[in-house]
Amino acid sequence: MAYTFRRLYYKYAKCLMIVVLIAFFVQILVALNYFPSENDDLLIKNAHISLEKAAVSPRKIDKYNDEADLSAKIKSNKAASYLRLEELNFKPLCEIKSREAISAIHRAKTQNCKQEIVNKTCLIQEGNFYPKILPNSCVSDRMMYGRHLGCYQDEKRLRILSSFYGNYINSNSPYSCLDICIQAGFPYAGVQYASECFCGENPPPPSASIADDLCDMKCPGDNSKVCGGYFTMNVYETGLAKFEPRTPQISENKNNSVRIVYLLTLNGRALRQVHRLINALYRSNHYFYIHVDSRQDYLHRKLMSLEKQLPNVKLAATRYSTIWGGASLLKMLLAAMKDLFRLEWQWDFVINLSESDFPIKSIESLEAFLSMNKGFNFVKSHGREVQRFIKKQGLDKTFIECETRMWRVGERKLPRGIVVDGGSDWIALSPDFVSYVTGDRDELLAGLDIVFQHTLLPAESFFHTVLRNSRFCNTYVDNNLHVTNWKRKLGCKCQYKHVVDWCGCSPNDFKTEDWPRIQNTRDRQSFFARKFEPVINQQIITRVEEYIGFTDHHLLSNLEAYWQSIYHIDDLTSSSDDMILTHAGSITRENSKILLKEGCSLVPYEIIEITSYNYADVYKGNLILHKAVLNKEFEVLIETWYKPKKHLELNFENHYVDNVKIFKVSSDYDQKEMTFRNLANILGPLSEPILLYQFAPIVEKKTENFTILWLDPTGIIADVNSIYLDENNLTNFIKPNLKAPLLPGVWKVGLFEQLNLIALTKFLITPLESFSGKELTHQEANIIHSGSQNAYKNFSYVKPLNFLPDEEESLLLQKISHSNIKRVNQDLKNWIDSLNSDFYSVLGSCVSTTSQNSKEKLGCGKHIFEYCTQTEWSSLSPDPKGTIGNLNSKSGRLDRT
Ligand SMILES: *[C@@H]1O[C@H](CO)[C@@H](O)[C@H](O)[C@H]1NC(C)=O
Ligand SMILES: *[C@@H]1O[C@H](CO)[C@@H](O)[C@H](O)[C@H]1NC(C)=O
Ligand SMILES: *[C@@H]1O[C@H](CO)[C@@H](O)[C@H](O)[C@H]1NC(C)=O
Ligand SMILES: *[C@@H]1O[C@H](CO)[C@@H](O)[C@H](O)[C@H]1NC(C)=O
Ligand SMILES: *[C@@H]1O[C@H](CO)[C@@H](O)[C@H](O)[C@H]1NC(C)=O
Ligand SMILES: *[C@@H]1O[C@H](CO)[C@@H](O)[C@H](O)[C@H]1NC(C)=O
Repeated sequence: MAYTFRRLYYKYAKCLMIVVLIAFFVQILVALNYFPSENDDLLIKNAHISLEKAAVSPRKIDKYNDEADLSAKIKSNKAASYLRLEELNFKPLCEIKSREAISAIHRAKTQNCKQEIVNKTCLIQEGNFYPKILPNSCVSDRMMYGRHLGCYQDEKRLRILSSFYGNYINSNSPYSCLDICIQAGFPYAGVQYASECFCGENPPPPSASIADDLCDMKCPGDNSKVCGGYFTMNVYETGLAKFEPRTPQISENKNNSVRIVYLLTLNGRALRQVHRLINALYRSNHYFYIHVDSRQDYLHRKLMSLEKQLPNVKLAATRYSTIWGGASLLKMLLAAMKDLFRLEWQWDFVINLSESDFPIKSIESLEAFLSMNKGFNFVKSHGREVQRFIKKQGLDKTFIECETRMWRVGERKLPRGIVVDGGSDWIALSPDFVSYVTGDRDELLAGLDIVFQHTLLPAESFFHTVLRNSRFCNTYVDNNLHVTNWKRKLGCKCQYKHVVDWCGCSPNDFKTEDWPRIQNTRDRQSFFARKFEPVINQQIITRVEEYIGFTDHHLLSNLEAYWQSIYHIDDLTSSSDDMILTHAGSITRENSKILLKEGCSLVPYEIIEITSYNYADVYKGNLILHKAVLNKEFEVLIETWYKPKKHLELNFENHYVDNVKIFKVSSDYDQKEMTFRNLANILGPLSEPILLYQFAPIVEKKTENFTILWLDPTGIIADVNSIYLDENNLTNFIKPNLKAPLLPGVWKVGLFEQLNLIALTKFLITPLESFSGKELTHQEANIIHSGSQNAYKNFSYVKPLNFLPDEEESLLLQKISHSNIKRVNQDLKNWIDSLNSDFYSVLGSCVSTTSQNSKEKLGCGKHIFEYCTQTEWSSLSPDPKGTIGNLNSKSGRLDRT
């Protein structure tokens, strides 16, 4: 079944990719001949995107975000002010006026998405889309909406309503001011000096009451109404009572009769960390409801066995593919919560966690705390001024989700009558409340559904807002039980531009040096922290475990190792498979060559899994698990361990050489964690290389700028960049302006001061052995391996010393490159292998045995294979912390030893 699907998929992807590639090739020619370079940039970018889209891409999308600090506006694509109708295969229902909507319609790729944006934008323009007013069931019975309390004397130094101030020169009126104060949850609203609106928590002192005719200025928004006067204010009741979040009980009750549902919403491939998290949380009286993103088929496959293994674990049957900040996130959460009732579990709280959370207090203390506070709902509010929160969060904008992107289409007005609240999207909710929000839609919920289906980061405000306006408002606790590792300087880099028209922030991973931050929460009601990511730092997780009472560490083998799968044969195909499999195939052949020198014949043939391996938080290389035929006789499972070689050459004659700390090319640079995610530097013709550099502080500056030259495999300058040395120490990255497909072979990147070389690094663009899973044909090679030299700018004015090949060499390199394009089959493999052996070293291989009496070693020629389970590096060696433990029926815990 899976096999058939894969085949079919390949077929489909192949057709599509060939069409795209040919179109793309033609476009390059066309672009070069007719358009200025800016246009061809665009065309090629589009082609590249289509190539990526042509296959299911399970690349991790980080979508977790608390309390997002959404500030900087996304660079607005010079929006046209009218819609180009010729791009649409339908007639818009109305004339679209919003520039943002027009830009979104033009940027959307499918007609269906364009039409959805058009349809909704038209409804919004007509004013028929959003509810104008919603009911609030959380009103005071002593106060009344709009009741006028009279005219009061205000004072500049001591405002009588001091919680909010706004100046609305054109629109102020008692009603508009009441709307604003209700939105922010205040019981009192006051208008002053015609255009000013104030909100307050406490009533004005009776002593400040003055004669009505001292409030004598007309309202700019409503001439028939009076809006205070010079330091005099008309004060009104909003109908809301003063809001006071509940204070949870903290008595040291040992009655832990509380049952928790952990709602795990998972993404990525960190299977062993998910196991570790479940080991830490597991008690047989609690429940686990697990939603795995629908694109993460590896994680889902591997977690399915849990359902059979443990009685109180359930995987969501309906899976959603969610994007950072997307409306689908809320849809997924509500569906998951609704499913909890279908399962008929008996529970007191649902707590939302992801693979990057970890408990930082014992489960027993969490149980003790929650058992004292049943019926409460734990959420964390933003703690800012509400109007500012609305702006920063983009709540006053309509977003439409389609093509797995959140398109911003224009301004909107939030419904009147309700309090708007939000903050962190990590929550602990009571069953009564969950039953209400997932149940029949009353007017409030039906209205909020429409609003939040078109809201960025809906999970950060939906639950808060429902709580504040429903009969549950007196169960609100302003604490989400979480600590989050915010480092906004690093985490707010607009890193989600590819999925949303907005700049969002993400918290950082905890590292060993962040330990005090966790320790400082000892006396607070914080039971979880995030984010933890063992590929970045695992030591901190081990430390946290010790802190919360794990005493088994000395018994665990391979405690400091971490393995994470990069590729698995059963995964849905991804657009990067051809590159990864070409690369891995070549490494396994290299291993065979090494073994042959010892008289051992090993013929590798099928790659099962590729795993990245860290030890003590240092990347130690990749592991390739593959089938092979040993001594032309029997089939074995081999795991081969290899590592990329370093490629930094320094020119010690240069004055700056000691300043160069990092100078390296790879792809998938993570700006937030300041590291490459592509640790093995696997790059192919369709990759987007990035240069990372770090310089130590430069004291004695002789030059203003460093220059960077990108040299392609034929020695032609493909791009030139400049680094401005105006800071003391510099860590940064450069994305060169290179066009796909990149010419396969060895690329060089030089760092120069004027024309003098300081440092040089090399990177490999591996040729592809296969295309859509099948051996490359001549025709495909002609497109994929021919590079994009025509698209290079003319850099002939740059003449660095001793770096460029001379004319003769250059011609030779061109000729070689030209003949390389013609290579297919074995000839192509030989080329790939000769390139790879320069860039990677094989560190060893082990054999996995199925036979029981595996005490004796397996010999092959003069070589003796180690058994994988007995090495410390193999992905098959024991990893108790990363494996689900055995249920201890006495304690109800999972034992790892
Ligand atoms: C948009 O509206 C038209 C006309 O009402 C309808 O036929 C079409 O299906 C709608 N399309 C989408 C994507 O909403
Ligand atoms: C523990 O709490 C439950 C319900 O909250 C209650 O029924 C039970 O009697 C309590 N047990 C003790 C020992 O306090
Ligand atoms: C729950 O968890 C996910 C991450 O796994 C998060 O993005 C989502 O917004 C959370 N929020 C709520 C309200 O459950
Ligand atoms: C150095 O770079 C900056 C900006 O990148 C540029 O404005 C300046 O002219 C350059 N200076 C020299 C000497 O090339
Ligand atoms: C910059 O320099 C300071 C002091 O020399 C150092 O503490 C800091 O870690 C450096 N930052 C980076 C990003 O290298
Ligand atoms: C590149 O520019 C130089 C002068 O700057 C010119 O002599 C040369 O012909 C140009 N080459 C191409 C291929 O346009």
